[in-house]
Amino acid sequence: MKDRYNFIAPYYNQLAKLVFGKRLKEAKTCFISYLKSKKILIIGGGDGLDYQEIQSNLSGEYWELSSSMLELAKENLKKSRLNFYLGNFQRKKDILFDEVWFHFVLDTMSDEEIEGILNEIKIVLKEKGKVYLVDFFQPITSKQKFLHQIMILFFRLLTSHKRGNIPDYEIILTKNGLVLEKEKDFLKGWVKAQIWAKNN
Ligand SMILES: C[S@@+](CC[C@H](N)C(=O)[O-])C[C@H]1O[C@@H](n2cnc3c(N)ncnc32)[C@H](O)[C@@H]1O
Repeated sequence: MKDRYNFIAPYYNQLAKLVFGKRLKEAKTCFISYLKSKKILIIGGGDGLDYQEIQSNLSGEYWELSSSMLELAKENLKKSRLNFYLGNFQRKKDILFDEVWFHFVLDTMSDEEIEGILNEIKIVLKEKGKVYLVDFFQPITSKQKFLHQIMILFFRLLTSHKRGNIPDYEIILTKNGLVLEKEKDFLKGWVKAQIWAKNN
């Protein structure tokens, strides 16, 4: 499998901090609670650096498509109780999760890929389980609109991201049996952190 993040993995976190400061990390951690008692599934967690402070309470699975990102995550989260896997998520018999984290990963996938992964997630999420989504939504200000286009171009060139737009999360997640429970805006709503629950 080609490692699309090979080139930028060592600089990814620094670059994100340079452009957005701590706002993305805040979005990724704002809904975290009672971690010790939970089994977490992290999809596309990147280098894992933003979870370093909470790692001692993290247990579950960490899936990455990029081997360079995965190696960094293993090192950055070596005090966690996470199991690390390279590739697309594959469910194991009888393992269920309390939370699934999609942090800045769904916007790198086509709608069909998102639907595919949500189909798997529905099976491994406990009845009262939650999906913790954090991502870019429609940019608000002209500066954000400009920066968003630059980012799309940057990722298309360096990591061959397929899409040039933002997925319609609300339609896709609702269609796949999830219901929005909580939401917090960052950067005037350009970035949102959301908690979705199973629509039982
Ligand atoms: C834009 S980066 C975000 C990384 C990290 N979540 C963060 O917020 O810094 C997207 C990451 O998702 C990974 N990725 C993309 N599709 C994936 C998939 N289907 N399964 C696992 N990882 C995936 C990429 O390899 C990349 O490391």
